[in-house]
Amino acid sequence: MDQNLVVKKRRIVLVPVPAQGHVTPIMQLGKALHSKGFSITVVQTQYNRVSSSKYFSDFNFLTIPGSLTESDLKNLGPLQFMLKLNQVCEASFKQCLGQLLKEQGDDDEIACVIYDEYMSLSKAAAKEFQLPSVVFSTTSATAFLCRSVIAKVNADKFLTDMKDLELQDKLFPGLHPLRYKDLPTSAFGPIESIPRVYSETVNIGTASAVIINTSTCLESSTLARLQRELQVPVYPIGPLHIAASAPSSLLEEDRSCIEWLNMQKPRSVIYVSLGSLALMEIKDALEMAWGLSNSNQPFLWVIRPGSIPSSEWTESLPEEFSKLVSERGYIVKWAPQMEVLRHPAVGGFWSHCGWNSTLESIGEGVPMICRPFTGDQKVNARYLQSVWRVGFQLEGELEKEDVERAVKRLLVDEEGAHMRKRAIELKKKLESSVRPGGSSCSSLDDFISSLKMKSS
Ligand code: UDX
Repeated sequence: MDQNLVVKKRRIVLVPVPAQGHVTPIMQLGKALHSKGFSITVVQTQYNRVSSSKYFSDFNFLTIPGSLTESDLKNLGPLQFMLKLNQVCEASFKQCLGQLLKEQGDDDEIACVIYDEYMSLSKAAAKEFQLPSVVFSTTSATAFLCRSVIAKVNADKFLTDMKDLELQDKLFPGLHPLRYKDLPTSAFGPIESIPRVYSETVNIGTASAVIINTSTCLESSTLARLQRELQVPVYPIGPLHIAASAPSSLLEEDRSCIEWLNMQKPRSVIYVSLGSLALMEIKDALEMAWGLSNSNQPFLWVIRPGSIPSSEWTESLPEEFSKLVSERGYIVKWAPQMEVLRHPAVGGFWSHCGWNSTLESIGEGVPMICRPFTGDQKVNARYLQSVWRVGFQLEGELEKEDVERAVKRLLVDEEGAHMRKRAIELKKKLESSVRPGGSSCSSLDDFISSLKMKSS
């Protein structure tokens, strides 16, 4: 613990979105702040709770009453689910925070509430109790900037433009190198809901700062622009999985895949995973299955139960494919992804390009095949290909020949070797940024100093 920065013990209240891609980084943020001497309270809804584990044994977990369910998520889709969850839980969150304030001791004062940008219920409560509140963004700074730009443009024109097929391959004004089709719109709901959802999330209200799980070595110009646009300090403190690794999987990890990886040649395996929410049409799953088999490279494929609609798990894949899997593939329901990416047998990652997966892959120097599904993943995929040049996008209809070619391009061709080299260079930069003296490490210290100043 850095004694210069924190003199007396104070508490930080974290408010996560109940979804894997959001829980993981906010828990890592909690770890990072705890190591600087703060007590941590995690206030969560009943749905998809993180349970206390040996990694978080010092954290205090509180569950607020009133929640939505898995079937609400299925019926509403993630965006509407989040809007509704915020409405349903706003009063109970306020009550919970009020209770925490009543119970706090002199050496346990709440320093601030840090809430996921999609947990806007925190705004009203923090304001009522005059507590400093801080937004935490689990996406890239560029995706944050996009949401901010979209929230400000004329909504009618934006909706018309987004439906214009001829514009899709054109650059979106002011967001180079993003094209219209790369903007973070969602496959989970009507495009009409996007301006509203984004004005809700980018409206940081009375928040006194924004923390982003990114590093200046990845997004320096975007961060400079965001800093100019927002009226409050922006702290890029990532990648948190390197700064403060803390496993918080909501699903059971199948570790048998590590034993399988142990039997494969170095850098020969393509790891395929689409994160915690993305879905895959059965048609695409079949093209992937045959393309992976025909590539002749070993593959480790995470197929999340329910991720192929109308299929429980893998029963819709053909029987011949199961035979091929036993020869050179391995399928699991959920993998210990960080460990997989770190494994020497893994040569490439076929990803939906969620921000955590993106950071985790670059953080291990693993190049990527980018096939975004929705939202910010499209922004990340564009940056992986055009800015960081550590991967390439597979766009349009998925055909097995394209899958086969893409796997060979990444794992066998010289082009893939160049991408790997660049990924390894970025990995080193990311590691330096979270070390003492690095930009992310200094940014976290600056954030902590700002809390100290507010309380003095
Ligand atoms: C979504 C968005 O895509 C993401 O950009 C946003 O920041 C959070 O919400 P998700 O689709 O789940 O997240 O993807 P991602 O951000 O990549 O997070 C998935 C997490 O699950 C990663 O930390 C990954 O390591 C973990 N994971 C995934 C596993 O542990 N095992 C698996 O088999 C698959």
